[in-house]
Amino acid sequence: MFARTLLFVLLAIFSRALCTPEEVHYYEKLINSEVTKALQYELPKDAKEYQPQDKVPRDFGSFDFVIVGAGSTGSVIASRLSEIGKWKILLLEAGQYPNNFTMIPRYFAISAFSEYNWGFKSTPQKTACLGAVENRCLVHRGKGVGGTSLINELVYSRGNINDYNRLSKLLADPSWDYEHVLPYFKKSENFHKNNPNAPADLEFHGTNGYLNTNYHLPPSNYTDIFLKANRELGINITDYNGLNEEGATILQINTKHGKRLDEASAFIAPVMGRSNLVISVESYVNKIEFDKHTKEAIAVIFTKHNRTYRVKAKKEIIMSTGTISTPPLLMLSGIGPKKHLDSIGIPVISDLEVGSSLREHVFCGVQFSSNTSYPSQSLQEQIKQYLSGYGDLTASNPIDGAGWYRTAIERKGSPDIEMVMSSSTPSELGKKFLGWDDETWSALFNITIPNPFTLTPVLLHSQSTGRVRLQYNDPYQFPVIDYNLLSDSNNLDIDSLYEGIQMALNLTETEAFQRIGAKLEVRQLPACTDYEFLTKNYWYCYIRQTAMAAYHPVGTCPMGPDPMKGAVVDSNLNVYGVGRLRVADASILPFTFSGHPNAVCVMIGEKISEVIKYEYGISN
Ligand SMILES: Cc1cc2nc3c(=O)[nH]c(=O)nc-3n(C[C@H](O)[C@H](O)[C@H](O)COP(=O)(O)OP(=O)(O)OC[C@H]3O[C@@H](n4cnc5c(N)ncnc54)[C@H](O)[C@@H]3O)c2cc1C
Ligand SMILES: *[C@@H]1O[C@H](CO)[C@@H](O)[C@H](O)[C@H]1NC(C)=O
Ligand SMILES: *[C@@H]1O[C@H](CO)[C@@H](O)[C@H](O)[C@H]1NC(C)=O
Ligand SMILES: *[C@@H]1O[C@H](CO)[C@@H](O)[C@H](O)[C@H]1NC(C)=O
Ligand SMILES: *[C@@H]1O[C@H](CO)[C@@H](O)[C@H](O)[C@H]1NC(C)=O
Ligand SMILES: *[C@@H]1O[C@H](CO)[C@@H](O)[C@H](O)[C@H]1NC(C)=O
Ligand SMILES: *[C@@H]1O[C@H](CO)[C@@H](O)[C@H](O)[C@H]1NC(C)=O
Ligand SMILES: *[C@@H]1O[C@H](CO)[C@@H](O)[C@H](O)[C@H]1NC(C)=O
Repeated sequence: MFARTLLFVLLAIFSRALCTPEEVHYYEKLINSEVTKALQYELPKDAKEYQPQDKVPRDFGSFDFVIVGAGSTGSVIASRLSEIGKWKILLLEAGQYPNNFTMIPRYFAISAFSEYNWGFKSTPQKTACLGAVENRCLVHRGKGVGGTSLINELVYSRGNINDYNRLSKLLADPSWDYEHVLPYFKKSENFHKNNPNAPADLEFHGTNGYLNTNYHLPPSNYTDIFLKANRELGINITDYNGLNEEGATILQINTKHGKRLDEASAFIAPVMGRSNLVISVESYVNKIEFDKHTKEAIAVIFTKHNRTYRVKAKKEIIMSTGTISTPPLLMLSGIGPKKHLDSIGIPVISDLEVGSSLREHVFCGVQFSSNTSYPSQSLQEQIKQYLSGYGDLTASNPIDGAGWYRTAIERKGSPDIEMVMSSSTPSELGKKFLGWDDETWSALFNITIPNPFTLTPVLLHSQSTGRVRLQYNDPYQFPVIDYNLLSDSNNLDIDSLYEGIQMALNLTETEAFQRIGAKLEVRQLPACTDYEFLTKNYWYCYIRQTAMAAYHPVGTCPMGPDPMKGAVVDSNLNVYGVGRLRVADASILPFTFSGHPNAVCVMIGEKISEVIKYEYGISN
């Protein structure tokens, strides 16, 4: 407690010394104008902005490695491969560099309504997202150097040790078990235990890497309540990235001096000066070319500023365009399910189940009120604090605490429910970000309740699978995304989320929460009037209306030993049936983990870079 107070006195002194009134004014203007823009912004419906006038490819030269997509994984690979001075690396990215606004963690949902988001939506859904406009889940995916880490919530999370052990068993490859991937996590990490009260297993963390990991300061007033409530229920307080994930925790986030540390800011900014690393932004890749005889990937076609270019890869092409965009690119290039490619007239080069097993986390929030208010700061004060590296703007949502739980019906050996506590108040922008229709929104949130907070259970091991397909043989159309959430025939998914809601209710009945007068604030949803309010059947209806995709899609180019059984890449990420082509992004994970995927993408980038160096005879 004393240490915390001293820290804030010091921060307060620095804050006065460090920022000028002009700077505060600049940020105030920037924030107000971006918020106004975001409220009016319409997400794009296709990628036609990239359609070139001049379709005849010009020569863009040749590189040893061409990496497509500068996202969470691609940024790490570009940084690590360019350490080898004799290798020429090209990194192609459709979007822009980050800017002063994307760097503010708190405004991720506002950056999501700008050119930094692709703007995908799912097809109309039947079993979840029913409270969303047209029953479509929004599929926010970042566009720019940094990828989805430009608009994510910055939570640093690796998943459960058992997830990796399950993966290595499935692959029959011990290099993916936790013992073997831990060194890559540690290599990339620069951990700061800047909250003395946070549980931290230091031997599991690295301190020399590019990726700053720390805790949000000051700790939220709700965190203590959340942790106390968990203790009352006999739940451990843990470092969820340490030995034992299961339990309640304070989340670790990727920020540096309070600014967003997207993967490009972490891994690319420090090496921008390397002459062997060329980064081409506003470059939209639409096809991979193969040698017809050897089936080796030899070139990439992309458009930039109304022109078309062809760039040759002497060694390899690495696709890091993410779970949603990698499948359409492979399919447009002739790699995908034969039946689907035949139906839209694309000649098949390798018949693989690309896009056939989309996996997601599913979340479903429940709102509560309390009798304890915590004063909020003026925007000017928030900006001053931001410029000194602490305060409201230096975390995404106020995520006050989180927990990883195994419910009574869990069968995979790792937590099936994550619980996130947040004291944010839903806003007009929140409605837009989540895509709610007016009716659902009004019933849930257009009500005045005192000091609201939400507990959000997240389903971690969904049984349901969805799909990503092409509409036509046209790279400027968005892919068809069918999540199919909560659709498993034995209802395990919805049963687990229901358990999660019971867990939330149990937590708020503890003394810790009762002391702040926590009270359930759920209203009768118009779509659920057939069910008696707050009965089990009511909650099932509530879940189908309000459950959404948690922006953690994986699984569309799964690793596996056997392409006949749905695998798209092997455990070194080589695409089956062709040569010199790898996929390295979240799409390779065959199932969701008990954790958020960003740190996993960074690990994949670290691991595959070492594999590549090793294969080409370079030892570290
Ligand atoms: C709102 C939100 C909150 C999230 N919060 C968290 C969190 O707190 N913690 C966490 O761990 N994870 C979080 N995630 C998920 C996490 O950010 C992603 O899983 C991760 O960034 C995926 O990395 P990737 O390398 O697979 O792809 P991406 O980072 O999406 O990178 C793909 C890149 O390829 C580019 N690209 C795509 N198509 C083309 C093309 N045709 N030509 C050229 N370039 C192209 C894209 O512009 C992009 O830069 C969140 C996601 C969202 C949307
Ligand atoms: C970003 O903000 C800094 C001050 O924090 C300022 O010096 C710089 O000019 C800004 N960049 C742009 C592009 O406005
Ligand atoms: C909330 O936290 C702040 C800063 O940590 C502290 O100064 C304040 O007293 C707390 N408020 C309450 C009501 O506990
Ligand atoms: C709680 O922590 C103890 C000590 O680390 C451990 O033995 C036990 O398995 C943990 N319980 C759960 C449910 O994770
Ligand atoms: C491409 O050409 C179209 C049509 O002339 C034009 O509207 C657009 O602004 C151009 N785009 C770029 C990036 O130059
Ligand atoms: C929210 O409630 C107010 C007052 O009851 C009403 O005027 C407004 O139209 C409602 N908004 C929506 C989106 O339903
Ligand atoms: C909630 O508490 C009740 C009563 O103690 C218990 O029976 C139930 O298993 C708990 N549910 C969850 C999901 O923890
Ligand atoms: C909040 O409500 C609880 C339970 O009714 C009560 O014990 C507590 O004193 C109240 N706190 C405030 C600040 O009103």
